[in-house]
Amino acid sequence: MTIILKAFEITKSYTGNHMENVLQKTNLSFEQGTINVIKGKSGSGKSTFLGILGGMENPSKGKVYYKNESFYDLPDSEQAVIRGEKFGFVFQSFQLIPELTVRENIELPLRFIHKKNSTSEIRIEELANELGIISQLDKRPSLLSGGEQQRVAIARALITNPEILFADEPTGNLDETTSKSIVNILTKLNNEKNLTLIVVTHEQTLFNAPHLLYSLENGLLEVSYNNV
Ligand SMILES: Nc1ncnc2c1ncn2[C@@H]1O[C@H](COP(=O)(O)OP(=O)(O)OP(=O)(O)O)[C@@H](O)[C@H]1O
Ligand SMILES: [Mg+2]
Repeated sequence: MTIILKAFEITKSYTGNHMENVLQKTNLSFEQGTINVIKGKSGSGKSTFLGILGGMENPSKGKVYYKNESFYDLPDSEQAVIRGEKFGFVFQSFQLIPELTVRENIELPLRFIHKKNSTSEIRIEELANELGIISQLDKRPSLLSGGEQQRVAIARALITNPEILFADEPTGNLDETTSKSIVNILTKLNNEKNLTLIVVTHEQTLFNAPHLLYSLENGLLEVSYNNV
């Protein structure tokens, strides 16, 4: 068993926030190839925690270890390589680039890491097909429904074949059928490619596959259950 990511005594506070700490000394280890679900009420710190784990936001105190290296102590250039090549991130608010087409949005992470090549187009179409957005590839995101935009955000996060997918409410805007098909795709990637999933959700029973469930409450993380 390999620990791929570890949160060590993560504390986060924002200046001017009414709560003292959004996260209080949070510890959690993620094993490679596991499905990890974090639930919690609105405002409980889920997105904050995910952003810190995903290398996008410095904690106030504590460390995030990626394969035993303290992520935020690495030089910026190394952090960027890990973020770009090993991590995939689905934002709660999608954060698609409005000026680019869906195809270009999905392709963007490959450009950042200089891995766009002759097979990229095939891979984009494969992913778009699996996610049911193939007919939308040449449109701008603003012409898509919320659920379609969410699926574009998922495709963009997966295009680099990351080791860890961080997904913030990845099915928050989807109907039950589409939501199930997204979960199936993620479960399949977990199974076949050993993709480690760290998913934030309000939904109680998103995954049927064995997973670890955590809940965040008042800045404290608890293990809800472990059915791995
Ligand atoms: N950049 C920021 N500056 C100040 N306060 C912030 C900032 N980001 C988040 N917070 C505060 O931190 C707390 C946790 O926010 P967070 O977005 O992590 O919650 P969440 O669990 O993801 O909620 P939701 O389910 O609504 O998405 C909230 O009280 C929020 O107001
Ligand atoms: Mg959130």
